[in-house]
Amino acid sequence: MIGPATTAPYTRHAGLYDRIAADTPLVGGLRRRIVDVLDPGRGDVVVEMGCGTGANLSLLRERAGPGGTVIGLDVSAGMLDRARGRIERAGWRNVHVARADARRPPMPAGTDIDDGIEEFRSLEVDAVLATFLTGTFEDPTSAVDGWCRLVADAGTETKRPRHRRPGRVCIAGLARSTRPLGRLLNPAFAGIVRAVAPAGWDDRGARKRRAVEVLDARALAAHRGIHERCSDATTTREIAGFARVTAGTVDPS
Ligand SMILES: C[S@@+](CC[C@H](N)C(=O)[O-])C[C@H]1O[C@@H](n2cnc3c(N)ncnc32)[C@H](O)[C@@H]1O
Repeated sequence: MIGPATTAPYTRHAGLYDRIAADTPLVGGLRRRIVDVLDPGRGDVVVEMGCGTGANLSLLRERAGPGGTVIGLDVSAGMLDRARGRIERAGWRNVHVARADARRPPMPAGTDIDDGIEEFRSLEVDAVLATFLTGTFEDPTSAVDGWCRLVADAGTETKRPRHRRPGRVCIAGLARSTRPLGRLLNPAFAGIVRAVAPAGWDDRGARKRRAVEVLDARALAAHRGIHERCSDATTTREIAGFARVTAGTVDPS
C-alpha cells in the first residue's frame, strides 16, 4: 500500500483542494466534458481511480443513473472523508468510495483491500475514469494497462454473457501545452509544477528542477497507453492545451 509520504499532503490540503478542484467553473466545465467523453451508459458500473474529494461523482452518477453503480477509489483518508461527505449529503445509495491503490484495484481479483470493500471483487466494470492521477505515477503505462484489462475482462470470470457494450476508459491530466497561447504560459506552468510536485517524484534527486519534464513524460506514456489498447481512442486538449483528455473503447484482449 502507498505510504504516508504520498497520502499526507493530500489529506492535509483536502479542503483547499476541494475548493479549487470542485468549485471553480473552469474546472467544473472541464469535468463535465471529460465525463461526456467517457460516455458511461445507464446502469453501468463506473470506477473512478484516485477519486479525491469526489468532484466527479455527481456527474458519473447522473450518467449511470439510479440503476448504475459508481465507485471511487483513493489512497488518502482525508480526500475520501470529503468524498464520503458529498455522498452522504446527496443521499446517493449507489455511490461508494473506498481506500485502495488505483494501480492495483480490488476488482475483480486485486489484492490491496481496505475498508471492507470485499463485495467490489465481483463487480463487472463497464467504465474507468482517472482525472489528474496518472501524472503522479512512476509507471503510468502499467496502471493504464491494468484499467484497460479491468474493463476488457469484465464478465469473463463469471462466464455470464454480457449484453452490455464494450468497456470504456478515460484519463485526463495536465502537461505542458503545444498551443500558441499555452506555449507563452509554459514557463509559469513549469514553475507551478515545480512548486507543487509531491513527494515520491523520484527523478534521481532532481525532481524539483525537472518536475515538468517528468510530468510531460508520464502524460505521454499514459495517453499513449490508451491509444495502444483502444482502436477508437481520441485525445482532446482543453484549457489552452494544458489539459489532455483521452478516451477509448477497450479492444478485446
Ligand atoms: C490531484 S488529485 C485528483 C483527484 C480527483 N481525481 C480530481 O479530479 O479532483 C490526485 C488524487 O489521487 C490520489 N492518489 C494518488 N496515488 C494514488 C493511488 N496509487 N491510488 C489511488 N489514489 C491515489 C490522491 O490521494 C489524490 O486524491
